[in-house]
Amino acid sequence: MTDNTPPSGTSRGWFVTGGSSGIGRELVLAALTRGDRVAAVARRVDALADLDERFPGRLLALAADVRDQDAVRGAVDETTDRFGRIDVVANNAGYGLFGAVEESTDAQARAVFDTNVFGVLNVLRATLPVLRGQRSGHILQGSSIYGQLAPPGVGLLAATKHAVEGMSDALAAELAPLGITVTLVEPALTATPFLSNLDFAETIEDYDQTVRTVQESLGGLPPEAFCDPVRAAQAILNAVDSGNPPRRLALGRQAEIDLRAALTDRLKDLDRWAETTRGVDS
Ligand SMILES: NC(=O)c1ccc[n+]([C@@H]2O[C@H](COP(=O)([O-])OP(=O)(O)OC[C@H]3O[C@@H](n4cnc5c(N)ncnc54)[C@H](OP(=O)(O)O)[C@@H]3O)[C@@H](O)[C@H]2O)c1
Repeated sequence: MTDNTPPSGTSRGWFVTGGSSGIGRELVLAALTRGDRVAAVARRVDALADLDERFPGRLLALAADVRDQDAVRGAVDETTDRFGRIDVVANNAGYGLFGAVEESTDAQARAVFDTNVFGVLNVLRATLPVLRGQRSGHILQGSSIYGQLAPPGVGLLAATKHAVEGMSDALAAELAPLGITVTLVEPALTATPFLSNLDFAETIEDYDQTVRTVQESLGGLPPEAFCDPVRAAQAILNAVDSGNPPRRLALGRQAEIDLRAALTDRLKDLDRWAETTRGVDS
């Protein structure tokens, strides 16, 4: 087990991307409330002014676009100048693209990878030298239930989250000997502005029976079908504090149900085709 607690008597230093809204903002608030210092990154940071007033001197609101490597490096430098260390990196900034795989344009597909995957890499490249230097730290990788499954309409969003999951498994093994922990955060649908920030693909009628059906069912969900972002943030904080965090933190009852079904289906396929699988050995 890795002990990622900062030296005794000091509060943790956080670097949270997408800290201005939704799950990220609630995480920023939860960390500030427990006495930590937080650098919150977003393109627009006005939404953090109230937290700056409530927690004077402990919030660093940094305007940066995660797609811009230099801007991210600048934000990390400001954070270490102010806090002296970074204990927790929350790679949380992201947005969704909705539409069938074929419906999404090349530009839309590349744009969502730019933020959700290459933005994550920009943050990792900028923060890991700090964490490696400390020989401690916890990286929270913003995934989703769509990091392990993908219903119609979320293929490209899921592709970005699967990419984050793939890199994070390797990253975790690479960083473990250096005292750094990696946790993938996998929320189910959560009541944040995420759905109103979705990019939509143009529609092709042939996908109405699948993609639009999913879209309609999402649109008709009652409020109680969504996770509470305050509870999600608290659950993430609890995992950070636990001393023994999971590789994957599923958030929400629906996440547990859907992930269990997806994993069971995968195992069933592996079992059903095991003879063929083994049959190709030389
Ligand atoms: N809500 C859900 O149902 C749900 C479910 C599973 C996973 N997630 C994941 O949870 C994470 C947070 O989403 P949320 O629900 O809290 O959505 P949200 O309320 O829309 O928040 C997204 C945050 O990311 C920031 N952001 C977006 N693009 C950025 C960029 N290029 N550079 C810097 N910051 C950027 C936004 O601020 P600016 O626009 O000011 O930059 C905002 O602070 C995302 O990775 C999302 O995929 C959400």
